[in-house]
Amino acid sequence: MTEEILTVKDLKKYFLTSRGTVRAVDGISFSIKEAETLGLVGESGSGKSTVAYTIMGMYRPTAGEICFRGQDISREARKRSKALKKQIQIVFQDPGSSLNPRRSIKQILELPLKVHGLSKDRSGTQQVERLLEMVELPLDYMYKYTEAIGGGEKQMVAIARALATDPSFVVLDEPTSALDVSVQAKIINLLLNLQRELHLTYLFITHDLSLMRNVSTRVAIMYLGKICEVASAAEFFQNPIHPYTRMLLSSIPVVSEEEEAFKPKKVLSRGEIPSPVNVPPGCSFHLRCSVKKDICSTDDPVMVEIGEGHTVRCHSSP
Ligand SMILES: Nc1ncnc2c1ncn2[C@@H]1O[C@H](COP(=O)(O)OP(=O)(O)OP(=O)(O)O)[C@@H](O)[C@H]1O
Ligand SMILES: [Mg+2]
Repeated sequence: MTEEILTVKDLKKYFLTSRGTVRAVDGISFSIKEAETLGLVGESGSGKSTVAYTIMGMYRPTAGEICFRGQDISREARKRSKALKKQIQIVFQDPGSSLNPRRSIKQILELPLKVHGLSKDRSGTQQVERLLEMVELPLDYMYKYTEAIGGGEKQMVAIARALATDPSFVVLDEPTSALDVSVQAKIINLLLNLQRELHLTYLFITHDLSLMRNVSTRVAIMYLGKICEVASAAEFFQNPIHPYTRMLLSSIPVVSEEEEAFKPKKVLSRGEIPSPVNVPPGCSFHLRCSVKKDICSTDDPVMVEIGEGHTVRCHSSP
């Protein structure tokens, strides 16, 4: 059996603001197996980045547990050991703001090597060259500054920086959504090749369901801080159950007749995602749901396994 590398149990992250308590992540559980890609999908504001930052230790969880290779890591990053930080890396959505414009690419890539005591040669050049090769950038790029290169290339530098510590698990928070369509496929292919070569495990965050089809082993759908459905990528596209999943899937373009046969009938997108400060009682999706029953406005459904590895949180699920 493949080992579970990351396990999240009943994780909550609330923010106290002048508007009230923001329930950004409100009791989610999932696990990721070694060398697989879990796709975390949801509309803007559903809490995806908050999940990512909490796993990275940038936020302390309000409640719940995060285990990495069996070790509880639900503590802030500064309390995490260097050995652990080395293992878990992140690539952010916007490479423009995540890379320091005052440092050369060599300096950017050397920094994690130095911080983690991984520099081997004094000049650091060889290791930087190897990282540039891994992301298929010309070696003379090490002397450039990020303002001189394009958005896709910046993201390649950000990926190289994440790989500098030889991690086993990488969080990808919308790694292509800030980029031109023309370079998105290149970055996705690069990430998939690197995963195969380096045996990486990914948490791949996106709001783009079509992208999920190409990158994910399994998919988790997030809505207002909660996960409403988890399934393998194949099962997810052939047998989506949750009304929210069906609403999302019915609005994406299909590429073949076979897929058209599986695609849920058009479900009109109703309303907008409510504020996580005022989460509706009962099932948080009921105000937008096309199949809601009386119970949905009073009782929050629990996750139920309806098939192997396929779980759904809905009062109407089979
Ligand atoms: N530091 C914070 N303080 C207060 N509220 C926050 C904070 N970070 C996020 N939120 C709120 O939590 C909710 C979830 O935000 P989050 O950024 O996790 O969503 P997301 O799914 O990543 O959205 P997007 O697709 O736009 O990136 C939002 O309502 C957001 O305004
Ligand atoms: Mg986000």
